[in-house]
Amino acid sequence: MTDIDWANLNFGYTPTDYNLRCYYRNGKWGEIEVSSSESINIHMAATCLHYGQNGWEGQKAFRCPDGKIRTFRLEENAARLQSTCRALMIPEIPTELFIEMCHRAVKLNERFVPPYESGAALYIRPIVLGTGAQLGVSPTDEYLFIVFVTPVGPYFKGGFTATNYVITRDFDRAAPKGTGRYKVAGNYGASLRAHVLARQQGYSCEFYLDPREKKYIDECGAANFIAIKGNTYITPESDSILPSITNKSMQQLARDMGMEVECRHIPVEELEEFDEAGACGTAAVISPIGYIDDPACGKRYVFSEDGQPGPVFKKLYEKFRNIQYGLEPDVHGWVTVIE
Ligand code: PLP
Ligand code: COI
Repeated sequence: MTDIDWANLNFGYTPTDYNLRCYYRNGKWGEIEVSSSESINIHMAATCLHYGQNGWEGQKAFRCPDGKIRTFRLEENAARLQSTCRALMIPEIPTELFIEMCHRAVKLNERFVPPYESGAALYIRPIVLGTGAQLGVSPTDEYLFIVFVTPVGPYFKGGFTATNYVITRDFDRAAPKGTGRYKVAGNYGASLRAHVLARQQGYSCEFYLDPREKKYIDECGAANFIAIKGNTYITPESDSILPSITNKSMQQLARDMGMEVECRHIPVEELEEFDEAGACGTAAVISPIGYIDDPACGKRYVFSEDGQPGPVFKKLYEKFRNIQYGLEPDVHGWVTVIE
């Protein structure tokens, strides 16, 4: 048992009992180690500290109404981390090792999986770091892969209610042909200034346009952009955004509901034409957008006047959550019960 106030958790770090670690040395990944320390001891010249060899993932485990714990599409996270590893010249983490460590981390910290009724979940954070010392700019030959878990509530206060964004033209989170499509720590570092400025101006988050031309929609802070126009689900096609597993799943659910799905360049002016707009990702699932301000032309694009999500997002959100909680048939094979 724990004394955590599950229903009032936010998206923050809470200590749990154990994390798992695996070291890459002499050309191979070693044995899985269980640790109860929240710290790591690494060389001050480690490449993760200087040269950005630092990639990570995020997924959730849920306590379901039938009492079981389920995880969602972890093999997709494993594949995405492998693509991040290739981008950063880090040896890939095999899918089986990734999934075994995630499952064991959840199981070992079972008492921190929030109860179903709270709406909270156990967030799984796998992270890989270059730990070998290196002074010249080149990949190292020693790495550490860690999986830790922590119970989390909604990413934005208020959960499934609308929040507001501001378009940023002064900063990009990633470059054209850069690392935007990978989950590398550097992208988040590059976003912090725009994020803090947006918060200081009273928005929940910054909104990015494509870094090459600033003509098309890229991402909503650290989440994908999704929109509904009539019977069509629309989301950006861009090589500088992260391929979101939530977005990919929502696209499938939209198709299952008989909707068209368009993955294409979205000119910023098209914001005018959407019935619903939202941010989409593991942490927030769908976070409806109230309005987006464009300070360059003084325009405000409004999607929700009353803070409530639109009818299509409501349907998609419910369907998605029901699958995660084992309340609807998992026809696409997305969930795994942790035994
Ligand atoms: N975009 C960015 C930059 C992210 O950090 C995330 C979260 O991981 C997402 C999108 C959403 O991806 P997913 O649905 O796989 O969590
Ligand atoms: C997400 O899960 O949607 C994220 O963007 C992760 C967040 C903590 C950066």
